[in-house]
Amino acid sequence: MHLTSLNLTNYRNILSAEFVPAEGVTILHGRNGQGKTNILEAVNAFAQGRPYRTRHEKDLLYGIAGTANGEAVTPDKIAQFTRAEAEFVSGDGKTTHETMVWAADGTKKLTRDDIPARPADFIGRFRTALFSPENLQLVKGGPGQRRAFLDLAISQLDPLYLASLTRYNKALMQRNALLKSWRSLDAASRQSLQSYTPVMAKEAAYITDKRESYVRQMSDIAAKIYSDMTDNAELMKAFYRGRRSEDEFSMLFRDYENRDVDAGMTIIGPQRDDMTVLLDGVPARQMASQGQQRAIVLSLKLAEGEISREISGEYPVFLLDDVLSEIDAPRREYLMGELAEGGRQVIITTCESEIKGDKIYEVEKGEIRERE
Ligand SMILES: Nc1ncnc2c1ncn2[C@@H]1O[C@H](COP(=O)(O)OP(=O)(O)OP(=O)(O)O)[C@@H](O)[C@H]1O
Ligand SMILES: [Mg+2]
Repeated sequence: MHLTSLNLTNYRNILSAEFVPAEGVTILHGRNGQGKTNILEAVNAFAQGRPYRTRHEKDLLYGIAGTANGEAVTPDKIAQFTRAEAEFVSGDGKTTHETMVWAADGTKKLTRDDIPARPADFIGRFRTALFSPENLQLVKGGPGQRRAFLDLAISQLDPLYLASLTRYNKALMQRNALLKSWRSLDAASRQSLQSYTPVMAKEAAYITDKRESYVRQMSDIAAKIYSDMTDNAELMKAFYRGRRSEDEFSMLFRDYENRDVDAGMTIIGPQRDDMTVLLDGVPARQMASQGQQRAIVLSLKLAEGEISREISGEYPVFLLDDVLSEIDAPRREYLMGELAEGGRQVIITTCESEIKGDKIYEVEKGEIRERE
């Protein structure tokens, strides 16, 4: 699967752009603050149904903060809408055309082949493996970031997972709302609490099972990539603990009822789990250097792409934001060599001009043009 074109209107600092990436490696080159990451964000929105860099999708409107590309934007010049349009081709040769339009009143409209779609419909069809500088937090940040990474990676491959997670989270929210309002349990409140157990135990068993097998598969592939990247000098491993059967979850939710009331929330379950990454046997969260963190995250992201291909038969589109800084020459060489092989479509942003690609775009003040 690959992206054949992206058209943007009023997307952040980009008034209008047409981006036609190569089937292989495309470079987005330019100085800081010119719009390179904005383009990647827009591409990725078609995989996630939303932009990953903001919770407030109105931030996308051109000029919303009162400036764009170093110039003041008066309120009457702030864009009334943002539009992104993408076309991609899947392995069987089928072309899909999708649009996303965000309006100034905060609403957004999505279409696939001219038929209205929901954001969740965009997950799984056009798939990406995104590496962004924010992802470096995957190693040192809190467990929530690692769970979010797993949830998105698995959801792109398994629609049942996303549905299961949605059902679990809905029940969890309702259960937590009850717990928050209680000081102790009587028979009636215990009963309403237990009404959530069947659905939560069932979904928790499914979610933790999928996460554990995904991490096991990813760990093997990532370890190989990491050791190739570091010339066999370092050994990485990732694991996830938390898989339990439906019966075990049912019992646990019951056992924890009193503690849940004390805490005012549900204290066991997939919402509390973590993925641990070890480097030479030591938790990477404690000891990995900047460059090692980058290499770990890259290995995980490349592994994500491999699993995606194994399961769906096609690579996702690799979006690599500023991936080359902070990694040394041999690691960089390995990475670029690896990415150029095997029919992957890769879009990389960089500030460095000395970089090879099948197609190079210059990005300047929100305008893009192909380098001659
Ligand atoms: N809604 C908006 N309207 C106008 N400009 C915006 C909007 N949202 C973000 N910007 C601006 O877009 C500019 C480009 O951002 P982007 O993150 O794409 O830069 P970049 O080329 O990736 O730079 P770097 O090399 O530093 O990562 C930033 O200066 C940012 O302030
Ligand atoms: Mg950037």
